[in-house]
Amino acid sequence: MTENPCPHTGFSASQQRQWPLLHSQLLGTLELGGSESIPESYLKQLSEEISSTIETSGMSKQETKARERIHQHLKHNIEHKLAGSKLYAFGSTQSRTSLGVGDLDLCLVVDGPSPRKILNKVRNILTELEMTEIEVIGRAKVPIIKFKEPETGLPVDISVNNELALYNTELIRAYADTHPMVRNAVLTVKFWASSRGINQAFMGTLSSYAWTLLALAAMQLDPNIGLPNLQKNADKNIIRLDHEYDVGYNSKTTFDWNPALNHASSFVAFIHRFVFHWPFQEDVLSIRNGGALSRKDKNWTQAEPEAFDLVPDSLDRRLGLHSMPIEDPFSLNHDLGRVLRPSGYLTIREEFLKAWVGLMNGNSWSELSKKENHNIIEEFDLFEELRSLSMNEVNALHQEVLDQLARAEDEGRTLSAQRK
Ligand code: UTP
Repeated sequence: MTENPCPHTGFSASQQRQWPLLHSQLLGTLELGGSESIPESYLKQLSEEISSTIETSGMSKQETKARERIHQHLKHNIEHKLAGSKLYAFGSTQSRTSLGVGDLDLCLVVDGPSPRKILNKVRNILTELEMTEIEVIGRAKVPIIKFKEPETGLPVDISVNNELALYNTELIRAYADTHPMVRNAVLTVKFWASSRGINQAFMGTLSSYAWTLLALAAMQLDPNIGLPNLQKNADKNIIRLDHEYDVGYNSKTTFDWNPALNHASSFVAFIHRFVFHWPFQEDVLSIRNGGALSRKDKNWTQAEPEAFDLVPDSLDRRLGLHSMPIEDPFSLNHDLGRVLRPSGYLTIREEFLKAWVGLMNGNSWSELSKKENHNIIEEFDLFEELRSLSMNEVNALHQEVLDQLARAEDEGRTLSAQRK
């Protein structure tokens, strides 16, 4: 039990040090100035810094070519060996929202056996191609195989039949193409989130893709920007996967960017929204609906516990559903905030406040986007899902895993006997 947590917020002393601005906001003692006090000269200077960061952080021509070459090499070999398959690239490189880092995301589309069986075949092909550090992650929601291309060391992920990602990549690209400043604004948010260490879904914060959606939704909601909704009044384009999905949108849409807004003012507007109008109290963020959709209409009420209920001692528990709801534009039941851990949520709130305070203090872009690594993973309770089960259920699961292991060992023995 934590000693002497704050009687008003419940934060322990170390949590008060970890999330000081959030803590004082909860106490009602945090003073936040408004945008009107930000001098034009500062915005101009900041804008130049952001612009030069974005220009230099994009992917070089050589890197783009190297990625394309690796994609083509894998495509040629895998499509040849797996009849009827197609290997596509997706993610930020394809949507033109890449900061020049990150894996090469590929998606294999193929009819037939389960994704896990397909991945095992892909593993054999990759071994023949002398790829390194090959790892199949078959139990994930979207099963993937991870490996490295030996010459460049580039990490590559191949997922199977993850077609929605191909469609949402095209949608993000269409948004990035509406105006160069939209793309810049997305890159600015992604750069900030990545530098501040809050874009790691596997560590309990949000994916880069979720940050992209937040940046777009904020621009749709801002009357000074008025980014159009590309799904509004679009012709339906129904695809059938595990369910039917409407992936229609208006491509080739452009709009007039407000010339009074530069790189810095769009970033200020983004941070301002999440500091002063935290949208998730009443709404779900939804670019499909022009930025937001009421929780009531979406039927996504906030389930307990909230992150604030879990301080000081229960941050290793799961957050209630829809704590920071972000709707995927095509997979409408998918809440991208589902991956948040309580500490990840609190850290994101703190980072918004920190960015605002930094802007108020006239901090440079390198100070605002200083590298930070939050060590959230330590607070994971690895056995959480087992805790609500009875001992019999845990034993049954344990036996199931042992059976699977035994089967895998059998298969391994048979295969090596065949090889001899
Ligand atoms: P990332 O989160 O890696 O986004 O998802 P990104 O913008 O490519 O990240 P960086 O630039 O490498 O840092 C990659 C793609 O995976 C799909 C989307 O198509 C996204 O573009 N994706 C990701 C989903 O469809 N759903 C998710 O929940 C996450």
